[in-house]
Amino acid sequence: MDTRGGFSSRLGFILAAAGSAVGLGNIWGFPTQVASNGGGAFVLVYIFLTFLLAYPVLMAELIIGRSAQSNIVTALEKISDSQTSFYPTFTKKISRGVGFWGVLTASLILSFYAIVAGWMIAFALAPIANLLNMPYLADWLTSFSVSRNLLFCILFYLLTISIVQKGVRAGIERWSRRLMPILLLMIIVLIAYVATLEGAMAGWSLYLKPDFSRVFAPELLISAMGQAFFSLSLGVGTMLIYGSYISKKENLPVLGVAVTFVDIGIAILAGLLIIPAMFVAEHNGVEIYTKTGQLLSEDTLLFSVLPALFSSMDLIGYFVAIIFFMLMTIAALTSSISMLEVPVALAVERHNTARKKATWIIGLIIFIVSICIIYNFGALFGLIITITTKYSEPLIGLLLCVFVGWVWRRDLLLKELKQGFNHAETSIFWLIWPFYVRFICPLIITVVFYNSIM
Ligand code: TRP
Repeated sequence: MDTRGGFSSRLGFILAAAGSAVGLGNIWGFPTQVASNGGGAFVLVYIFLTFLLAYPVLMAELIIGRSAQSNIVTALEKISDSQTSFYPTFTKKISRGVGFWGVLTASLILSFYAIVAGWMIAFALAPIANLLNMPYLADWLTSFSVSRNLLFCILFYLLTISIVQKGVRAGIERWSRRLMPILLLMIIVLIAYVATLEGAMAGWSLYLKPDFSRVFAPELLISAMGQAFFSLSLGVGTMLIYGSYISKKENLPVLGVAVTFVDIGIAILAGLLIIPAMFVAEHNGVEIYTKTGQLLSEDTLLFSVLPALFSSMDLIGYFVAIIFFMLMTIAALTSSISMLEVPVALAVERHNTARKKATWIIGLIIFIVSICIIYNFGALFGLIITITTKYSEPLIGLLLCVFVGWVWRRDLLLKELKQGFNHAETSIFWLIWPFYVRFICPLIITVVFYNSIM
């Protein structure tokens, strides 16, 4: 046995990978994008692109990771070692570049993610402050300020670091397994409650009736593609490193399907909660759209709509609010640990740093980036989200497809897939997927980019 950690069971992996996938992207990002991109049309395109693009890329990451048993940089190098090109050193340099680009993207994603996650903590505490008759405190907790953003961002980093430094089983797996199921239950109960309120129907109809004329809008397509990649934690090496912790006995395509379904399922459910809740809030006088139909404030939508909803519930609303935002914090935590794991695994495996030390140092560095964002919020926050999630992730996803489809030797790829999947060679998966990542995925991603730039 080597000393690498690994997930203890199939369920352990599914919950950890689903924990990574399910996060602010599903519950904050997805409904916001739905609302600002015309409702049902976005939902439709998003589901379509998830199966068409994100699932194949997820499989690429899982297979690369489990085969190489290492972080993204080392893994891509190993793949280019196995090939027979005329320019092996050149391919190797590229693979290192792509790997580091992924690690950098993962770190930048954490830098903004931790800020939003900090808001969740603050919003979980605000109702407590209210219950204790401290309205000033509650007010500070729920209004935008540098001091609040900083404090709760720090708190969230401390939580993330303390889990990651413990490693795969005791840290990542244990917490994902405990917390994911509670979140699901909570969302379902809230959907049922919101559905009974006045105004909710308008939300349901916006959400479930696609406006087909908008389906091919370039802006909608690129947003949906970015969202599909972000939501499945793709294109930065997160799923690749989680893949490296999966046992060789597991059937990878099946695991991938399970994670994809959980992720889409939670996003759709979150939409069923948030979109009707928006309309309920609007019905109660909270302003959501401007006169021209733009969402009033994209990044803070959740934070005006949900508290308005909870306060409509009287006393019980306080407790629902506390639990909901606590669960959001937790969902964010099972995602943030998967982001931090990317640079940490690199430092541990390539530079022989002790895990604990690596986690603290890297966590601190990324926190400094967050501080810069907090002090220049208007200029940096949206910019970093756009660069990392809309552009970097799909582009790296494209390059990973190229690695699997063009660089990796086909026989080695099949050999890896066959572990835990004896009949891989004669399966539909093997019939479609290799061709698919070779030609179709790169093509679709390129077309979507081309469309949105032209
Ligand atoms: N998928 C998570 C969400 O929806 C966020 C996330 C976790 C992520 N790890 C990632 C996004 C790696 C991109 C890359 O909230």
